[in-house]
Amino acid sequence: MAREISTVGVIGLGTMGAGIVEVFAKAGLTVVGVDGTPELAERGKGFLEASTGRAVAKGRLSEDDQAAVLGRVTWTDQLGDLKDVDLVIEAVPERLEIKRDIFGKLDDIVRDDAVLASNTSSLSLTEIAASTKHPQRVIGMHFFNPAPVLKLVEVITTLFTDDELTTSVRELAERLGKKPVVVGDRAGFVANALLITYLARAIRVYETGHVSREDLDAAGQVGIGLPMGPLTLSDLIGLDVVKEVCDVLYAATHEPSAAPPALLQQMVTAGRLGRKSGQGFYTYEKAGSGTVLDAPAAAERSSGATKTVGVVGTGDLATELVEKLTESGAQVTAVDDPAADLAPLAGLPLVLLVGGPEAGCEDCGGGECLIAEGADPADATACECCHGKAPAAWFGAVAEALDERTVVVPTDEASAWALIGHLDPQVQVVPVAVHQPTRAGQLVEVARQLDASAEAVDGVQATFDAAGFVTLASRDRAGLVVDALLYPHLNDAVRMLDSGYATAEDIDTAMTAGCGYPQGPFAMIDAIGAEEVADGLTQMQLETGEPALTPSPLLVEHAAIDRPFLG
Ligand code: 3HC
Repeated sequence: MAREISTVGVIGLGTMGAGIVEVFAKAGLTVVGVDGTPELAERGKGFLEASTGRAVAKGRLSEDDQAAVLGRVTWTDQLGDLKDVDLVIEAVPERLEIKRDIFGKLDDIVRDDAVLASNTSSLSLTEIAASTKHPQRVIGMHFFNPAPVLKLVEVITTLFTDDELTTSVRELAERLGKKPVVVGDRAGFVANALLITYLARAIRVYETGHVSREDLDAAGQVGIGLPMGPLTLSDLIGLDVVKEVCDVLYAATHEPSAAPPALLQQMVTAGRLGRKSGQGFYTYEKAGSGTVLDAPAAAERSSGATKTVGVVGTGDLATELVEKLTESGAQVTAVDDPAADLAPLAGLPLVLLVGGPEAGCEDCGGGECLIAEGADPADATACECCHGKAPAAWFGAVAEALDERTVVVPTDEASAWALIGHLDPQVQVVPVAVHQPTRAGQLVEVARQLDASAEAVDGVQATFDAAGFVTLASRDRAGLVVDALLYPHLNDAVRMLDSGYATAEDIDTAMTAGCGYPQGPFAMIDAIGAEEVADGLTQMQLETGEPALTPSPLLVEHAAIDRPFLG
């Protein structure tokens, strides 16, 4: 039978601890909040007053309910005040020696049947439990920041943990309105092992200087559709916490992708810890504030948009681009028939090439046969199956019809390949990737190649900005920014599944309920297609040599038989 838990102690009243106090008090439990000094206990009380005060101001909580929530909590600097609680949750800084010391002291304070839980984000719960007199009553309850908002609680069990205890804690989490996911004790558990490795990878991309801070965040928020960009999220979590989790993950796995990036280490050493210190990747109004001071003024790039644009190609994307560019006031010359006269394209400042499967014949998949079979790409008749009507040949003819003033914008790889050998070397090529719309907008990534002028890149960006897209510019690397962030993250999730640690459903729940993802990694892979993810990773792996980019064998299997991960 599940045990009765009605009184809870929370130790450590920083961001997470105070949020956890709020969760319990709002669910009607009696809470004792403990921190090391009367001042820190008072600060915890202040956090709860401020947070519930904001809810009252927004009309989400009545003043009476706020008073009831505050009335359920007592604040103290004495661990001894926890002697009567049913459950203690420790949320102190991530240092094993501090946690072990606290759990050791609790042994002599709390009742023998009280539950001892840790909110550790990555430390070994087994090591914490082993330092206590009754390791079978020690369990992990890992909340996510902001704890009052995010639904996930990772319930971490060890070899010592009683099954009955696991059931009770899972039911308690459900009573709090949370979504529990029960997993064993492994570095980073589910969510942090995936999320923090993704953040470390993003910070490493930022370190290269290939993309700006805002553009990197746009890749995560608009391109992938996550609630925040990776640098903004790192600042929210705290760069010290991100680094600590990286350290733990790296120590456990020796995966270079989990190692803390040099820039992150330097920022932590310099005391730039993110929102909580007022400065991280961004500068904030004051410590603890989320208001960014050094955000650049809203871009006015669209004023440099090109007014006459050619769009060559067929299919949904070509139609969408023609519509959006026309609505933005551009004069669009659309060519959607390989037999059409190409003369109107001559002299246009910007021509978009839109390939995609619909534009090629079924057999050659839009010109890939020219590449795969090593045929001369300059030979427009080389494609035997479609006799020059696939983009490889059609776009080649288009390229030859353009003059050197035109900036050519291939929107996919097949279009870009089709240009090889046809273009006047003076013509500038600015490849783009147009992403599916997400809840934050529709992203277009603009690739900066070494020989493209800043003017050409800016002009392309401005044209897409004016047509209502969100744009970012980065160096032209495999996967650009969005896929370079997303695909390795998805691959890590498949590796985790393949390792037997968690199910695909639990991993998806962890990332949606814990990190606000619109859908979990496996739902994302199923939507994108395992083959596309695996191919994208292979391209990146070939370019960088990074072992972690090798597609997981399980991903390759799913790709080979075209089997979804879910359902
Ligand atoms: N405390 C209480 N409520 C908060 C809050 C906070 N700190 N921050 C936001 N909220 C509430 C708002 O009041 C608002 O409520 P309402 O809709 O009822 O008015 C709601 O949350 C949404 O807030 P906003 O409209 O201001 O902003 P967003 O819609 O952008 O949501 C967010 C903010 C919830 C933080 C969202 O951006 C998000 O989910 N981001 C991802 C956060 C994430 O990934 N967290 C996990 C980090 S990893 C971790 O914590 C583990 C650790 O071990 C490292």
